[in-house]
Amino acid sequence: MPAAIATHRFRKARTLPREPAPDSTLALLREGYGFIRNRCREHGSDLFAARLLLSPVICMSGAEAARHFYDGHRFTRRHALPPTSFALIQDHGSVMVMDGAAHLARKAMFLSLVGEEALQRLAGLAERHWREAVSGWAQRDAIVLLDEAHRVLTAAVCEWVGLPLGPTEVDVRAREFAAMIDGTGAVGPRNWRGHLYRARTERWVRKVIDEIRSGRRDVPPGAARTIAEHRDADGQRLDRTVAGVELINVLRPTVANARYIVFAAMALHDHPHQRAALADGGEAAERFTDEVRRFYPFIPFIGGRVRAPFRFGGHDFREGEWVLMDLYGTNRDPRLWHEPERFDPDRFARETIDPFNMVSHGAGSARDGHRCPGEGITRILLRTLSRQLAATRYTVPPQDLTLDLAHVPARPRSGFVMRAVHAP
Ligand code: HEM
Repeated sequence: MPAAIATHRFRKARTLPREPAPDSTLALLREGYGFIRNRCREHGSDLFAARLLLSPVICMSGAEAARHFYDGHRFTRRHALPPTSFALIQDHGSVMVMDGAAHLARKAMFLSLVGEEALQRLAGLAERHWREAVSGWAQRDAIVLLDEAHRVLTAAVCEWVGLPLGPTEVDVRAREFAAMIDGTGAVGPRNWRGHLYRARTERWVRKVIDEIRSGRRDVPPGAARTIAEHRDADGQRLDRTVAGVELINVLRPTVANARYIVFAAMALHDHPHQRAALADGGEAAERFTDEVRRFYPFIPFIGGRVRAPFRFGGHDFREGEWVLMDLYGTNRDPRLWHEPERFDPDRFARETIDPFNMVSHGAGSARDGHRCPGEGITRILLRTLSRQLAATRYTVPPQDLTLDLAHVPARPRSGFVMRAVHAP
C-alpha cells in the first residue's frame, strides 16, 4: 500500500464523539452522501453518535468499521431503515431482513441464480437489447441515456428471469422500476410515486408466481421459476407475496444498473482516452468498471441494529443499537485509496481490492453475510455495456451533468443527453 495512503489516520477519540445538534435529520437530507464522512473528518473519528428521526444512532465509516458491521452476523437489517425506504428496497419477508440460518438458506437461492453461465447469458441479452435500442436512437434527434438504459435493462432482465416482454410492456415496467429506484432515498412525492408504481409491479409479479405454480404459465429455467418453486429451510414454499418481493429483488436492482451505465458515460466524457482501454477489453475494462463502482455515488450507507454486542472504536455496541455504515465515504477514504477524489482506473495496478475497502455492494462475504448477491451482475453488465457505449458514436450537447450529492440515489440532472447517435 503506498505510504501516502497510510498517513491519513483518524485519531481514535477516547470517548465517542457526539453531534451537538439535538437532531441531524435535516443535515442528512442536505448533505446526503457526504453526511457521515464529513462528520467523521470533523470529529477525527471512525464513528460518532447523533440523532436521526429523533432516534439515537451511531454512524461509522472506513474499512475497520465495515469489518465490524459485516463480520460475524453482529447486525440485523430489521428496523434499521425508515419505513418509507424500507418498503421500496427491502420489504417484509425478504432475504435482507432475515438472520442466521434462515438468511443463509434464502441467500443460497439468490446465489444459485448468478453462476458464470447465467451471468454470460444475461450479458448476451443486455448486449442484444442494447444494439436493438441503438439502431432506434440513431433515428432520433436526442436521447436521455438514463431512461433508455432503464428500458434496455428491463427488457434484458425480464427475458433473463423467464418473463420476456413486448415493447409496450417494456416501457410500462421500466417506468415502474425507475420510479421505485428513484423513490428509495426520498421523502415526499418522489417516494410516494415509487410506492404507487411498486404496487403495480407487485400485482404483476404475484400473478406471475400464481400462474407458474398452477402450471398456467410455462417459463424456462431461470429466476422466476426458481423463486416460485423455492422451498425455505422449513421446507415450505414462499408465501406468494414474499415470492413476488424476492422476484422484484432480482429485477429492480438489475435495472438500477442503468445509473452505473450513465456514470460510465460520464467517465468516458471526462476521460475520452478510456475508450481505447475499453475497446481492448481484458484487464483494462475490468479496472474501468471497478473504478466506476468505487468513484460514483450509489448507495450512501446501510442501516443495521446490533444483534450481538461488541466493542469498537472505544464504544460498547449494545443489543438493539441503531448503526449506519458509510459506503460512499469508505469508497473514498484517503486511508484506503490514493487520491480518492480522482477517477483513475489505473489505480488498480497498484492498489488491491479486498472484501472491506470497496464497498459499493457491501462488505465481507455474499455467502455468509448480507453482501450483495448481485455484484457479479453489476460487474458483467457494466463491463459489457460500457464497451458497447465506448464503441458507439455520439455527441454530448451542453447540459447539466451535476451530481447533486443530496439527491439519493444520485444521477446527473440531465440524465445524460446524447445526440447524433450512430451504431458502431
Ligand atoms: C445496481 C447495483 C447494485 C448495488 C449498488 C447494490 C448494492 C447492495 C448493497 C450495498 C447490499 C448490502 C446491503 C446490506 O448490507 O444490508 C445489497 C444487498 C442485496 N442486493 Fe444488491 N446491489 C446492486 C445490484 C443488485 C442486483 C443486480 C441484485 C440482483 C440479484 C441485487 C440483489 C440484492 C439482494 C437480494 C441483497 C440482500 C442480500 C442480503 O441481505 O443478504 N443487488 N446490494
